[in-house]
Amino acid sequence: MSYPDACPLPPGRLDELIEALVEQGFYIGKELLDPALCQALHSEIEDRARLEALTRAGIGRGNEHETRDDIRGDAIHWLDRETLAQRRYLDTMGELQQALNASLFLGLFEYEAHLARYPSGAFYRRHLDSFRGRANRVVSTVGYLNPDWPEDGGGEMVIYASGDQDREVARVAPQAGTLVCFLSEQVPHEVLPTRHPRASIAGWFRRNASLGGMIDPAR
Ligand code: OGA
Ligand code: MN
Repeated sequence: MSYPDACPLPPGRLDELIEALVEQGFYIGKELLDPALCQALHSEIEDRARLEALTRAGIGRGNEHETRDDIRGDAIHWLDRETLAQRRYLDTMGELQQALNASLFLGLFEYEAHLARYPSGAFYRRHLDSFRGRANRVVSTVGYLNPDWPEDGGGEMVIYASGDQDREVARVAPQAGTLVCFLSEQVPHEVLPTRHPRASIAGWFRRNASLGGMIDPAR
C-alpha cells in the first residue's frame, strides 16, 4: 500500500470548510481524504474486527461509562499513531487544527479520534458530542472509509438543525473520502441503522476546560 508522505487538505477546501463551519455550523466535504489512506485505514479496522481487537463503544465518561445497544452499536479502537496510516490521518487533522486556530481563534489544543465499526444493523441515536460548560470537545470530525457505499446501504449520518433537533438539515452517506466537520456543542446528529459493516473515524478537537482545578479527562 502506498500513499503520499503527507495527505494535505487542498487549501481551497480548507477555506470552504472554515466558511461553512462559521456560516452553518457544519461542513460536508466529499472526496476530501486521500483514497489510498482511506483504504489503508479501512483494512486496519477490518483486520481488527477479524482479530476481535475492537472494543464495544459506550456512552458517558469516567464512572458513568456504559454500553447501551439501544443507543449505540459500534465497536472502536482509539488511534495511537501505531501505524503509518494512523499517523498520516492524525497529521492531516493536525493541519486542520492549525487552520481552525489561525482563522477562528478557537484555541484547540488536542485531537483524539477512534476508528469505529458499525456491524450490520447497528446505529447511533441522535446525540451531541459535547455539552456546553461541562465537556471540552469543540469541533467534531468524521472521516468515512467504505469504498463504493451502495445507495441502499443505510448507515447515513443525519445532521439536525442546532436550534431545532427535529429538523433534518443534511444526510451523509458513509462513502470513503468524505470528511464531515461540525461544532460539537451545537449540532445534533445520528447514525441510521446500517445494512453493511460501516467504518468511520470519529475525532474531536478539544479545548482545555479546567474546572475547579480539575483538568477535564479525555474520552
Ligand atoms: C460519534 C458519531 C458518526 C459517524 O462517534 O460520535 O457521531 O458517522 N459518529 O460515524
Ligand atoms: Mn457523535
